[in-house]
Amino acid sequence: MAMKKGIILAIETSCDDTGAAILLDGRKILSNVVSSQVSIHQKYGGVVPELASRSHLEAIVPIVTEALGRAGVTLKEIDGIAVTQGPGLVGSLLVGLSFAKSIAFAMGIPFVGVNHVEAHLSAIFLEEEPPRFPFIGLVVSGGHTSLFRVDGFGKVVRLGQTRDDAAGEAFDKVAKLLGLGYPGGPIIDELSKRGNPKAIRFPRAFLGKNSLDFSFSGLKTAVVHFVKTYQESSEKFSEGLLCDIASSFQEAVVDVLVQKTILASKQEGIRRIVISGGVAANRLFRERMREEALNQKLKLYIPSPQLCTDNAAMVGVIGYEYLKQGIRSDYSTNAYSNLPL
Ligand code: KG4
Ligand code: ZN
Repeated sequence: MAMKKGIILAIETSCDDTGAAILLDGRKILSNVVSSQVSIHQKYGGVVPELASRSHLEAIVPIVTEALGRAGVTLKEIDGIAVTQGPGLVGSLLVGLSFAKSIAFAMGIPFVGVNHVEAHLSAIFLEEEPPRFPFIGLVVSGGHTSLFRVDGFGKVVRLGQTRDDAAGEAFDKVAKLLGLGYPGGPIIDELSKRGNPKAIRFPRAFLGKNSLDFSFSGLKTAVVHFVKTYQESSEKFSEGLLCDIASSFQEAVVDVLVQKTILASKQEGIRRIVISGGVAANRLFRERMREEALNQKLKLYIPSPQLCTDNAAMVGVIGYEYLKQGIRSDYSTNAYSNLPL
């Protein structure tokens, strides 16, 4: 595609955040606006799909307008549009996708549907020193825990994935169980600072010496058991015990994530590692990965926390690469709750 100015609009509505970004040359963020729906879903302890799509519908025009305004560009200056097509909540995805189609149609510009997981893997290219290909990529979020070998844009091989819960999902479920609120990840991250990570030995599932798959449901069940047993024998959790449970749980998740990512790097003989997705915003995980990478002389790349969690700029990175290669979607393209990568 001939890029007049190299300016694209990116849209992300796969879950509970409405995101719009304007990117220059697929790398420079001119604006990156995220409107969180946390206040809407909080009282239900998780994302309510029906409410999420309705809220995207209300937010999409103001958010895109804000992204354009902050970037100081008009729709006429946009060369193309990148939009998340899946995986995610279909009702939510449809809002962003239909909106992208209408703008593309009205302005006579191309648009391309993007895989949300590939977008997470691409967030690192918004940072100052992005990695060279190939690299090992771990996407660890509310819906995914997958390891990849990334050979180039659009050249991704999956090495392993979770067999049950995603790591972020485990954070959210444990937080809900402990009555801590939603989303669980940042709350457990914060509480853990005051807890002892060795207080309770929760199980780690490695699924065999060489496996790059994950499983977090056993860990979740172990926390449920611990809580039940404790509640039967005494009344309420003390603040200290709550922090210890959070910290010990977080330690178990991080342990597995770090070890499997390093194992993938060894198995593939690739010394560059990228971690991304909401759980990659976790303080302990970032710290442990840095330590381990240093020990093993591996090169580690982590996007800033705001680029790890859902945002539209990361969608723009991969969308720009596709548009540049002449890849575009047509108006009949659909949204998919499952879109394998
Ligand atoms: O990537 P993301 O924003 O959305 C999905 O694609 O799922 O990830 C959201 C997930 C949630 O499960 C949330 O609890 C978790 O990432 N998360 C964290 C942290 N921040 C967000 N988990 C652990 N520690 C954090 N600091
Ligand atoms: Zn995500």
